Amino acid sequence: MKKIQISPSILSADFSQLGKEIKRLEDAGADMIHVDVMDGHFVPNLTIGPPVIKALRKYTSLKFDVHLMISPVHKYIKDFADAGADIITIHPEATENLGQSLKFIKTLKKKVGVSLNPNTKINSIENELENIDLILVMSVYPGFGGQKFIPEVLEKIELLKKIRDEKKYEYDIEVDGGINFENSKSVINAGANILVSGTTIFKENDGNIKKNIETLKEV
Ligand code: DX5
Ligand code: ZN
Repeated sequence: MKKIQISPSILSADFSQLGKEIKRLEDAGADMIHVDVMDGHFVPNLTIGPPVIKALRKYTSLKFDVHLMISPVHKYIKDFADAGADIITIHPEATENLGQSLKFIKTLKKKVGVSLNPNTKINSIENELENIDLILVMSVYPGFGGQKFIPEVLEKIELLKKIRDEKKYEYDIEVDGGINFENSKSVINAGANILVSGTTIFKENDGNIKKNIETLKEV
């Protein structure tokens, strides 16, 4: 049974003091930091790029779990690796050759992730499953925090766990979007071992992020 980890999304943090916010997350027991990179093209929103990640690197030794919602993505992978990303997760629709992009991330000695939108089928990436470290199941359509969890993805999580167990693969199953205290247990029971959350962690319990991280971890 993989350890349940929480990867808070800084998309819901105070962007005027991201360094301090990352320190706050580390002190509150976050297992890694989920960095949502958006280009206004792959998704209808724009956030941060490599220079900001580079500036944030010194604020924590926690892993940067970088979610690239950008296309084309291949030509930017090295910039994010050099800026300090530890896990680099890409969307299959954002690259001409998924296998090549994943191999390239590995040559940069970074953990490799693939993100599946709610309407993207597992069979579109099944040849890559044995080579990836993390599969990021989107439980919202990417682009914004604060959206409603799409319960149909629970089936996809269960199937990914079944495939992993049957084929003895190693990938982590991370779920991202609309995670809250009402659905976190069903997401974990379905097979997820990393939960991404922005709104719930920063907003619930008057912003008590330590309590919110601990509550999301409860099974
Ligand atoms: C959406 C991002 C998610 C989002 C999660 O495109 O990928 O990481 O920030 O935020 P909440 O937890 O607010 O849904
Ligand atoms: Zn994300």
